[in-house]
Amino acid sequence: MSNRMWGGRFATGPDAIMEEINASIGFDQRLYGQDIAGSIAHATMLAEVGILTHEDRDAIVAGLETVRAEIEAGTFTFSRALEDIHMNVESRLKELIGEAAGRLHTARSRNDQVATDFRLYVRDTIDTLVAQIRALQLALVRRAEAEVETILPGFTHLQNAQPVTFGHHLLAYVEMLGRDHGRFEDARRRLNENPLGSAALAGTPYPIDRELTTVALGFDRPTANSLDAVSDRDFVLETLSAASLCAMHLSRFAEELVIWSSAQFGFIKLSDRFTTGSSIMPQKRNPDAAELIRAKVGRIMGALTSLTMVMKGLPLAYSKDMQEDKEVAFDAFDSLSLSLAAMTGMVEDLRTNPERMRTSAAAGFSTATDVADWLVREADIPFRDAHHITGQLVALCEQKGIGLEGLTIEDFKFIDHRIDSRIHKVLSVEASVAARRSYGGTAPQNVAAQAARWKKHLTGEDAEPVRVGRPGGHGDGAE
Ligand code: ARG
Repeated sequence: MSNRMWGGRFATGPDAIMEEINASIGFDQRLYGQDIAGSIAHATMLAEVGILTHEDRDAIVAGLETVRAEIEAGTFTFSRALEDIHMNVESRLKELIGEAAGRLHTARSRNDQVATDFRLYVRDTIDTLVAQIRALQLALVRRAEAEVETILPGFTHLQNAQPVTFGHHLLAYVEMLGRDHGRFEDARRRLNENPLGSAALAGTPYPIDRELTTVALGFDRPTANSLDAVSDRDFVLETLSAASLCAMHLSRFAEELVIWSSAQFGFIKLSDRFTTGSSIMPQKRNPDAAELIRAKVGRIMGALTSLTMVMKGLPLAYSKDMQEDKEVAFDAFDSLSLSLAAMTGMVEDLRTNPERMRTSAAAGFSTATDVADWLVREADIPFRDAHHITGQLVALCEQKGIGLEGLTIEDFKFIDHRIDSRIHKVLSVEASVAARRSYGGTAPQNVAAQAARWKKHLTGEDAEPVRVGRPGGHGDGAE
């Protein structure tokens, strides 16, 4: 049997293999909410400009609401023979309301329909992801506030470098997530144009009013070029790009959680809620959630690469290749959403071991730079010379098997007579972090101020409303 939606000129139906490769209903059914919202806006507009009678419009809108209810109740039967969500919905509409259903597709094509649905979906997804990013930022800021004085070793090359405060380290991720948020908002602004009314590729001879559907669907304006509107998937790529960077940030943080929670570091303990045991080694607590977040960036960035390859070299306008845009994007957005949720839970739950962190921060002569800075500041020694003198002090410590704090004033004088007992004040890790008061530096007072700034931004008057939900799950697609 040929397809009842487009099979007019076909004598027989498609081969089974053809049906399998062609159908997208297995994955695009999650666009049902956006598809129905788009159809209601389209039918309403058609009636407004006199292309559709008000009776037909009312029947169509009521029928579409029934379809939505059936899908949400799980009683809707999706058919692969009907290819995709658009034709599944329209076909059921025909069963429900009869002939009027056939008038819905006037002045429209599946090409502008799917472009509209997917823009609405990506827009909803951005709103969800942004809300999740903000929730994670807030969790980090709350921890940072409590940890402004906690000393953590700061690394470069994963070698002990200088002490930092744990709050400062956490706020570094708040900054990264702030940029991620900005990238998602940028993508949202650019994507928020209405493709509906571009029809198959060239526009339509019907006297449609694209402003009406634009307003109804919460878009800022109609797209200005019909060829571009049905061919463009930049909005997915741009959002996947923002998602990739965000996932990369989460991956770096996840890696730190894995390292910090190891027995060798022992800086943090992840809660039972986000770890697993081993079936053979009873002592183990594995940071699986962190490891999986560390890995998710692979498939998320993979989706960006995959869709870029799909789009590369495609002539205008729509080609079926573009149906390959959805699965990878859905998977990527779901993965990022899950990662953000798991990371937020881990941040809220993790316990710190401040003694371990402090001991580790003090190891490896981590305040050597403070000694050199003292020589510059108090003895007017050029920094390069001060660096050399400090190197000699470190060598002496190594010889004696002690830290810088263990050196006596005689030891200091032995290396350089210009040093006096005031040097002892700069040798502790607490003094080291407290001294780093330059804007953006790790001093507890700076960290407290930055945490307060972020908290005000995330919870205060200057914060945008938090929208929550599952990616694309807003259903009706409208604001
Ligand atoms: N399922 C299709 C997709 O996802 C919808 C558009 C089909 N358009 C067409 N001309 N066959 O891309």
